[in-house]
Amino acid sequence: MENNENVSYYNKIAKTYDSSRFNNSYGAFIHRQELAFLDKYVGKQDLSKHLDLGCGTGRFLDYAHYGIDPSDQMLALAIKKHPEKELKVTDGTATGFTDQQFEKIYSFHVMMHLDREVIRDIIKESHRLLKPGGALIFDYPSHKRRRLIHYNAASWHGATSMDLKDIKKLTGELFTVTYSRGFLFLPIHKFPIKIRSWFYGMDQLLCSSFLKYYSSYIAVILKKK
Ligand SMILES: C[S@@+](CC[C@H](N)C(=O)[O-])C[C@H]1O[C@@H](n2cnc3c(N)ncnc32)[C@H](O)[C@@H]1O
Repeated sequence: MENNENVSYYNKIAKTYDSSRFNNSYGAFIHRQELAFLDKYVGKQDLSKHLDLGCGTGRFLDYAHYGIDPSDQMLALAIKKHPEKELKVTDGTATGFTDQQFEKIYSFHVMMHLDREVIRDIIKESHRLLKPGGALIFDYPSHKRRRLIHYNAASWHGATSMDLKDIKKLTGELFTVTYSRGFLFLPIHKFPIKIRSWFYGMDQLLCSSFLKYYSSYIAVILKKK
């Protein structure tokens, strides 16, 4: 897949991205889990040392002063919401920031749409941008889960699922995995809409239990070596 295809897709759907993905009970469920994770592991202090890589429309820009995204249409909406932030249209593989500028870089719902070579380049670039001991944090669809439910992506969209061993292979020379957890263990989309939120606490427990690698998505924290 050419990354251009990915960027033109996000340019096209930018205006409806927030409402179609997150303005419903399923989207709100995962958004709540992600915010709880960001509150705990990224936080809102020292924002000038945080970068949101692939920030899109700025869903998570309360946790960083800097954001980048190659889709100018997605970024235009982020700029509207967060005019005080430093946001630029650029690709995560070549950001133009200076060496060791950041303490935390996070990237959500991004790697799953990219080829492994692009992911590898983003990991290299993040390593360059992070201070020693800094953290790279991202999510990806669980390959174990997808195998279990026989799920195959129909196109490039969300096609890159991985397991922790793939992450270690991709990042091992540059980073150490220090933490991982899941998002969305229960098949929330199959539950009646009215009762979905009742299962939030249970899902949070399962996503951090010994079963976590069977959640729909996994979030990892990698520490720069
Ligand atoms: C599903 S959106 C996620 C946006 C935001 N992180 C969120 O969670 O709402 C994926 C974003 O990744 C961006 N993207 C695509 N290729 C990228 C790359 N090589 N580097 C950084 N971001 C990229 C797209 O333009 C798009 O805005």
